Amino acid sequence: MITIYNKDQIAEIKKACRLAAQCLAYLECFVTVGQNTEKLNTLAHDFILQHNAVPAPLNYNNYPKSICTSINSVVCHGIPSENVILKNGDIINVDITVILDGYFGDTSKTFIIGEASDEIKLFVERTEIAMYKGIEYLKPGRRLSGMGRTIEDYVTKFKYSVVRDYGGHGIGQNFHEPPHVCHFYTREHDVVLAEGMVFTVEPMINKSKNWKVITSTYDGWTVYTRDKSLSAQFEHTIAMAETGAEILTLCE
Ligand code: MF3
Ligand code: CO
Ligand code: CO
Repeated sequence: MITIYNKDQIAEIKKACRLAAQCLAYLECFVTVGQNTEKLNTLAHDFILQHNAVPAPLNYNNYPKSICTSINSVVCHGIPSENVILKNGDIINVDITVILDGYFGDTSKTFIIGEASDEIKLFVERTEIAMYKGIEYLKPGRRLSGMGRTIEDYVTKFKYSVVRDYGGHGIGQNFHEPPHVCHFYTREHDVVLAEGMVFTVEPMINKSKNWKVITSTYDGWTVYTRDKSLSAQFEHTIAMAETGAEILTLCE
């Protein structure tokens, strides 16, 4: 069952989303060459607590940290560590989810560390564009699967691929709730969009035609591309409004 949230509830979710976005913006100047990802975790953790919220990942299904930091061939769920140090040319997705007054907000973006090649810069830019193209497709009465098609059609032009094993999710009173949001075309999990739905759009894009992934047997969390190609991701939480999707994870 997909929860339809009323205007008051969406206003509450938006407060959580705004805090998550503010936390991500706050971290940006610390995402630099030589930085370790444990430091990013601590900064985010403290920022969230100082704003009377809780980091949702911490202890979620035994996840050990407060944020996810996914570098280069890591698709998602990278675990911060003081032994992981950002180096010139890396790409890193930082994913923040907060719980504020019982409501969840979830956002992420991919940063480039120092100087990267034009090829890598384009890859990251196109991943962000893919997310926005997906969001712009969303209208009440349309099918969610059309969004997946929009994203897939765009990125496959560049010989990239859309990760299939992970998707977006309904969110609000829970971290992950229906619907499951596919960023490639499939009628599985399809739903007709309606005002009051709240979910994330968070395409994970691999910089090769191979969408397959593999999860670390070492930590049980870190998801890698099978072929070790780069993977990038951007994420917003949106609410379905009368005319389209309202992005909730903005700093204003
Ligand atoms: N924030 C991630 C998402 O976008 C989920 C992370 S789950 C965790 O859905 F346990 F790894 F934190
Ligand atoms: Co999410
Ligand atoms: Co997230």
